[in-house]
Amino acid sequence: MCGIVAYIGQKEAYPILIKGLKRLEYRGYDSAGIALLDQGELKIYKKQGKVAILEEFAADKNCEGKVGIGHTRWATHGLPNDTNSHPHFSENKDIALIHNGIIENYNVLKEELEHRGHKFISETDTEVLVHLIDDIRKREKVSLAEAVRMALLSVTGAYAIVVISKDNPNQLVAARKSSPLVVGIGKENEYYLASDATPIVEYTKQVVYLNDEEIAVVDLNEGFKIVHLSNQEKTPYVQQLEMNLEALEKGGFEHFMLKEIFEQPRSIHDCFRGRLNVEQGWVSLGGLKEYEQKLVNAERIVMVACGTSWHACLVGEYLIEDLARINVEVEYASEFRYRNPIIGEDDIVIAVSQSGETADTLAALELAKSKGATILGICNVVGSSISRITDAGSYTHAGPEIGVASTKAFTAQVTILTLLTLFLAHKKGTISQSAFQSMLCDLEAIPDQVKRILENDPKIKEISAIYKDVRNALYLGRGSSFPVALEGALKLKEISYIHAEGYPAAEMKHGPIALIDEEMPVVVIATKGTSYEKVVSNIQEVKARKGRIIAIVTEGDRQVKELADHVIEIPETNQYLVPLLATIPLQLLSYHISVMRGCNVDQPRNLAKSVTVE
Ligand code: AGP
Ligand code: GLU
Repeated sequence: MCGIVAYIGQKEAYPILIKGLKRLEYRGYDSAGIALLDQGELKIYKKQGKVAILEEFAADKNCEGKVGIGHTRWATHGLPNDTNSHPHFSENKDIALIHNGIIENYNVLKEELEHRGHKFISETDTEVLVHLIDDIRKREKVSLAEAVRMALLSVTGAYAIVVISKDNPNQLVAARKSSPLVVGIGKENEYYLASDATPIVEYTKQVVYLNDEEIAVVDLNEGFKIVHLSNQEKTPYVQQLEMNLEALEKGGFEHFMLKEIFEQPRSIHDCFRGRLNVEQGWVSLGGLKEYEQKLVNAERIVMVACGTSWHACLVGEYLIEDLARINVEVEYASEFRYRNPIIGEDDIVIAVSQSGETADTLAALELAKSKGATILGICNVVGSSISRITDAGSYTHAGPEIGVASTKAFTAQVTILTLLTLFLAHKKGTISQSAFQSMLCDLEAIPDQVKRILENDPKIKEISAIYKDVRNALYLGRGSSFPVALEGALKLKEISYIHAEGYPAAEMKHGPIALIDEEMPVVVIATKGTSYEKVVSNIQEVKARKGRIIAIVTEGDRQVKELADHVIEIPETNQYLVPLLATIPLQLLSYHISVMRGCNVDQPRNLAKSVTVE
């Protein structure tokens, strides 16, 4: 949820920290702060608000120092304000700490520390941890690293932390559990730590992803080592980063979200590259190879996810059930993890997550694992927590998705689920060879068709201008377009702050139709397919109540054109692939309305890109 960055080495830390925090700001931006070690002095600067405010505040301060930590916060305990900002520090200000996650038993720990005379100044859970480390270090007379290890043994919850101390001027101590932390190994005895690789990639591509309950001790004199909470030393597994810097820039677009919408022809292609071969007639998900037979023979597949990823799972449900004839249950991860689900060794549980760090999804997977299920992952971030605890999985290869509103990750997730459907249906013989071959061709054509839809952007922008001031909206779809309606509504909600609801089109007459009037725009996915005529009837029901209709139709449609106020055409494709195309205009519609309303498209209020706390 928050962004963590740290540096120790031969260069001045401040510029590296600030630049790194800006790259991580999408993870949360309630406040930002840094701590610098310099000539035995520990300097801490922190402010409510975005990194730019911290930068302004620090402009006339002494920001020298070759060891430093930085944090951009998404608050869980304590309001966003200066005092609750990170870094937090020990009472005598000789230790500073930054934290991503939640110390769930902080109240109990705080009470014990207060009994021992500790005074707290913030409302956060994090401050308790830095006092605990300080307390242990003094009482047990142990090293900083050992004090961190002992403190974490009594912590319940999630953390990615980095700790520095005046008494250890050449050392950083970091640790993680459930929240992500990456160590970048620089060229000249220097190290970069961060919540993900974006602040690191311009300095080094040699990285180590910390695993749960691992502590990284970075010492300029003694080098870098990893110790497990159990005090067992672990060999660091150094990986080569594939990400490159320009992928992180906006590439000339006004916002990351628009860039990522326009990246979809490439990201969908990258997603099925090497996994789809039309000429030879095969589909293959290499990462799932070991579990192919188990998947083919599965009685049931359970999918767990949140938000947009949950919508992708719903599309997967329609496709897999209809074409591969396997029962699929799609669960909100946050509900699944607490409702004592009936899960056993025969079950396959698939987690779908862009970030691979969503706390609820991770916890749902851990629960499924504890019940003996096979757990698989569909993630976008390489080395993310979900990708590392699952038995196997597939990366969506959509590239970094910086905009908080998920776009290319959604279509990439749907692409993977479509490939999985085709693989299973073909293996099980529930789809004819000709239908299989035809869908392979149709899927291969999707990137070019997305390109054609994107060429309609100016027209979609014009429609957006008409509806930018509405207060509510309804999104309707049937079959595998129903999850697309949900996704379109979520996009509008989260970046324009307009209330929007997605519904199965037929469901409208069971209540929502009472809302229809000339003030209520209704976005309807009315593409050619088995339920087309039914959707046309729903459009007529809306029309009869003076509702204004924006319809997503198949190119050449004439019938809906007569009824709708606006139509946005998408190329004809197999009806099971419509979600990949129908989503694009809805992404653009919400993007333009958000920009016209002056909203912060890439970092909408109250939201963060990766929800790594409950
Ligand atoms: C979607 O636009 C939102 N950013 C949000 O619903 C997101 O999909 C959800 O938090 C799940 O994130 P994940 O895919 O990284 O697990
Ligand atoms: N729980 C800590 C706080 O509220 C950290 C939150 C975060 O991960 O940003 O300050």
